[in-house]
Amino acid sequence: MVPAFEGRRFEKLNDIIERNGRTPSSLIPILQEVQEEYRYLPEEVLTYVATALGLPPSAVFGVATFYAQFSTEPKGRFVIKVCDGTACHVRGADTVHFAVRRAAGLEPGRKTTDDLTFTVEQVNCVGACSMAPVVTVNDRRVYGDMTQKEAAALVERLRKEAEEEPVPTEGAGDGVGTAGERAADGAGGAAG
Ligand code: FES
Repeated sequence: MVPAFEGRRFEKLNDIIERNGRTPSSLIPILQEVQEEYRYLPEEVLTYVATALGLPPSAVFGVATFYAQFSTEPKGRFVIKVCDGTACHVRGADTVHFAVRRAAGLEPGRKTTDDLTFTVEQVNCVGACSMAPVVTVNDRRVYGDMTQKEAAALVERLRKEAEEEPVPTEGAGDGVGTAGERAADGAGGAAG
């Protein structure tokens, strides 16, 4: 039994395992889906997956901690990644990062807010250098030509979204936000 994943969430975990197959080669696809569903890989889930696939828990924990795409710590509903690749760095990624953290209300040394609304991370190039500096949200929405002001406005839009829609709708409203769209949209969430 997985205490923190009883009921519907537990059923989803089993669905993911069944869909991918109970074989060791399914481990990474399963972890990817579990992380997409729960935003991180809880310890009890890793143990459960290990048992289901007939793998030693240490092997599953090893994979979960080796790859940067996986997190064993809870993440916020909105994972905001501020690109700090070269193109973004020279165009002010640090100030954008600072503005996002401040708007999210993050304490020094923290990446995730206590209410699990925001996780803010600095990452390497996300492949949209022509739009530098770039911010992504949940690896789906991409915002380019960011300024401190736009970064703060983005966080406020996401906060509002969380308040208005407490239960996340995966994939809803995902897209690419350009500076032009944002300018036309004002504070209203162009790409969201
Ligand atoms: S350096 Fe930021 S998108 Fe490439």
